[in-house]
Amino acid sequence: MKNYKIAVIPGDGIGKEVVPEGIRAMEAAGRQFGFSFAWQTFDWSCETYLRSGRMMPADGLEQLRPFDAIFLGAVGHPKVPDHVSLWGLLIPIRREFHQYANVRPVRLLPGIEPAVKNFGPGQIDFCVVRENNEGEYSDIGGRLYSRTDDEIVMQQTVFTRRGCDRIMRFAFELARTRRRHVTSATKSNGIIYTMPFWDERFAEMAKKYTDVRTDQYFIDILTAHFVRHPDWFDVVVGSNLFGDILSDLGPAIVGSIGIAPSGNLNPEREYPSMFEPVHGSAPDIAGRGIANPIGQIWSGAMMLRHLGETAAAESVERAIESVLGGSGPRTPDIGGKAGTQELGEAIASKISP
Ligand code: NAI
Ligand code: MG
Repeated sequence: MKNYKIAVIPGDGIGKEVVPEGIRAMEAAGRQFGFSFAWQTFDWSCETYLRSGRMMPADGLEQLRPFDAIFLGAVGHPKVPDHVSLWGLLIPIRREFHQYANVRPVRLLPGIEPAVKNFGPGQIDFCVVRENNEGEYSDIGGRLYSRTDDEIVMQQTVFTRRGCDRIMRFAFELARTRRRHVTSATKSNGIIYTMPFWDERFAEMAKKYTDVRTDQYFIDILTAHFVRHPDWFDVVVGSNLFGDILSDLGPAIVGSIGIAPSGNLNPEREYPSMFEPVHGSAPDIAGRGIANPIGQIWSGAMMLRHLGETAAAESVERAIESVLGGSGPRTPDIGGKAGTQELGEAIASKISP
């Protein structure tokens, strides 16, 4: 029987509340589909940082390296600046493990009131693919003449041919498993070096995938189309910054932030990939046991798919849809009174071949 070794980082706030429900669903999937898990928990978080001055130990990445995948809740604490938690934990993992594809499915589920009108379940179903390693999020730059009238700040954007090609190839391959359509987010009218290069690489890659339909939009009008015509999209590929914005906007138009999942993938599988809900640690509701666990559970389904357990992944997604579409328990963010555990248990009990 296959046994998957998973590193678990619950993190802060509601991360610690939703991760156990993610594990419950994965365990149920394993029992039903004949595989098992060895979970190892790491208490790396902002609370650890407040005690020790580090988000993770110096050899943290080496400790994670042997695992089949990383299952993360959320990090963030009101007493710790957000760039500390991001650059102290998440960004090193994403970069050092070449998790260059950040994938966020956007699907309108039954029983969820979308923020956009005139669309029903099944009519919005696309995937945002964000370049996760380079682009606008670089630490090349600097600041001169601080606190004077001559103050200068510069931040260098970095686009490499390798980086563009691999994320675009990933998007086209993903499209082949879906409706064979890729949309590129660009801004080659205003940003005149990097974005025309991005367009060039996109056109070049499209030649290798003549069976996949393509289009591209400037990021400004693309955000409007997301809201007005979310049914136009299948796979949407964007740079680190554009992808970041689109991958929050996408989940927002189909309902609660508590539902949205994500994967940080190393498609070559040379390093572990990381799966985490889109939401953060939600300090405003942490400790009350009312967080929606679906984002975590759905991220678990993405992890199963990445591990090759496709049937189990589909069954977890069906269980989520069946609880949401039926008269099952609902957490307050989606209009109910149930707690995190009650919703988690309801979903786990519906997982079956
Ligand atoms: P957030 O996602 O934590 O919360 C935004 C709003 O959505 C809050 O009102 C919250 O109660 C609600 N919400 C979020 N998840 C929910 C769930 N599962 N069920 C029900 N309601 C939910 O974003 P915010 O407030 O901007 O950030 C809080 C902290 O989380 C910050 O420290 C931030 O840096 C961190 N953060 C961490 C992320 C990560 O670990 N990848 C991602 C986003 C934020
Ligand atoms: Mg974001």
